[in-house]
Amino acid sequence: MKLNTRLKKIGDLVEANSFCLDVGCDHALLDIYLVKQNKDIQVIASDIAEGPLEQAKKNIQRERLEEKIQTKLGDGLSTYEEGVDTVILSGMGGRNMIGICKNDFKIMKKIKTFIVSPNNYQEDVKRFFCKNGFYLLNEEFVKDGKFIYQILIFQKGKKKYSKKEYFFGPVFLQKKGPLFREYYLREYKSREILISLLPGNYKFKKMQLQKEMKMIQNEIED
Ligand SMILES: C[S@@+](CC[C@H](N)C(=O)[O-])C[C@H]1O[C@@H](n2cnc3c(N)ncnc32)[C@H](O)[C@@H]1O
Repeated sequence: MKLNTRLKKIGDLVEANSFCLDVGCDHALLDIYLVKQNKDIQVIASDIAEGPLEQAKKNIQRERLEEKIQTKLGDGLSTYEEGVDTVILSGMGGRNMIGICKNDFKIMKKIKTFIVSPNNYQEDVKRFFCKNGFYLLNEEFVKDGKFIYQILIFQKGKKKYSKKEYFFGPVFLQKKGPLFREYYLREYKSREILISLLPGNYKFKKMQLQKEMKMIQNEIED
């Protein structure tokens, strides 16, 4: 199995000398990449399911990295160990990620950095972290095949954001760039399709979607 562009980008965003807990590691390809970078990164690869964790162990053994990558079976942040400063949550639904943190608020508060890449509900994820002691240090887009993913880096601390900043992402709004435009053009079009499919009695929902489309238009036109 080869590391894809999305996971490589996530790996490149991990700081040197950090102690990472990868929650939902699956095959552990990201963790193998992390320790091979010679950035002095320690890693715990964890997963809730036995099948993926067995695959992770095999991949780690194949690379002879058993000494460097610890594997742990367990739900969410329950696999945390004292000293972990960075948690990676990627390739899962946003609501699952929120649930994982809500189950272990005490551990969540011990973490300095969360690197998260939710498949959906990105705005909910941003609001959740920023209401619970974190701010958005960085946001990145990565295009892998035909998909564009958001990678969000939350750091311990506080910042206030407007509705618009939560919608687009405060850092994305500052940086913009071609992937920002492409991502939100797709968001615009998906809303257009949704409006055409909604029955007539969904007036409020349609109005809300139209408002969002206007907001997107304003940001991608300039
Ligand atoms: C689609 S894979 C993503 C793998 C990898 N993180 C990535 O970004 O490609 C999702 C993995 O998360 C694991 N998972 C889902 N919920 C979890 C939880 N609450 N705790 C730990 N692992 C979980 C699943 O078993 C699965 O292996």
